[in-house]
Amino acid sequence: MKIAVCGKGGSGKSTIVALLANEALGRDYKVLVVDSDESNSGLFRMLGFENPPVPLMELIGGKKVLKQKMAQPSILAENHISLEDISPQHLARRDGLMLVSIGKILQSLEGCACPMGVLSREFLKKLTLNTNELAIVDMEAGVEHFGRGVETSIDSVLIVVEPPLESVNVGQKIHELASGIGIKNIWAVLNKVPSEEIATKLKAELKQRHIDVIGCVYFDADVFRSSLEGKIPVSGVAVHETKEVLWRILSMVIMNTETTRI
Ligand SMILES: Nc1ncnc2c1ncn2[C@@H]1O[C@H](COP(=O)(O)OP(=O)(O)OP(=O)(O)O)[C@@H](O)[C@H]1O
Ligand SMILES: [Mg+2]
Repeated sequence: MKIAVCGKGGSGKSTIVALLANEALGRDYKVLVVDSDESNSGLFRMLGFENPPVPLMELIGGKKVLKQKMAQPSILAENHISLEDISPQHLARRDGLMLVSIGKILQSLEGCACPMGVLSREFLKKLTLNTNELAIVDMEAGVEHFGRGVETSIDSVLIVVEPPLESVNVGQKIHELASGIGIKNIWAVLNKVPSEEIATKLKAELKQRHIDVIGCVYFDADVFRSSLEGKIPVSGVAVHETKEVLWRILSMVIMNTETTRI
């Protein structure tokens, strides 16, 4: 299963990715987190790694070379990639948790991030997972990645929505784009919700837009505090709420049972 975590900038995508990854590990899944965000570089720390893996972009000669080769799509389209095929320098490992990074924008004026989008798309397309393996992709903020076709091989999209209306609007756009390319499993998870009253209002907004809500993660001061060190907590309310979200996702996608959406 390949799940993309999308949403407006700052809505909590990376936090939800890290919390979901930890939960999935606890359920004996091998978890590959794919860092597809070319701007932020702290995901490795949130996942408990000391150093980030070498970006896959380096594997193919860096952004400049890929840009030259972008006109020949066959370059990345030959093999299936299994987790064993990724060399240790590009795959950070801790127990059953793995992390790959597509690439980061490192310098000013180095050009647009399109090559990273191409690499993300091709890598995800070729990535072949066993039934006990789960890929969770931390997407770049907003919707541009849909334009680059990054989600073409993704089976599930989780949209992180926080209270501001603009976050709901971006969520709606993501829902439209994901439905448009035929993704069947699309849900919103509410995040940083300060009260039940606001949770109810947010759910109503999303219902009006025909977006299923799969869970609600309330504002958790521990999560916010831990982020000062670039980390996420291993226990607490948000951890528990994310566990529920993962359970619902797995029930619906892998066990194929319809669970009660909230
Ligand atoms: N449930 C929560 N409770 C409290 N704070 C939260 C919660 N979820 C996320 N945050 C905080 O919100 C901030 C942004 O979170 P995060 O970096 O995960 O967002 P993001 O969507 O990945 O951002 P970006 O678009 O920059 O990649 C962080 O300080 C994080 O600790
Ligand atoms: Mg992020």
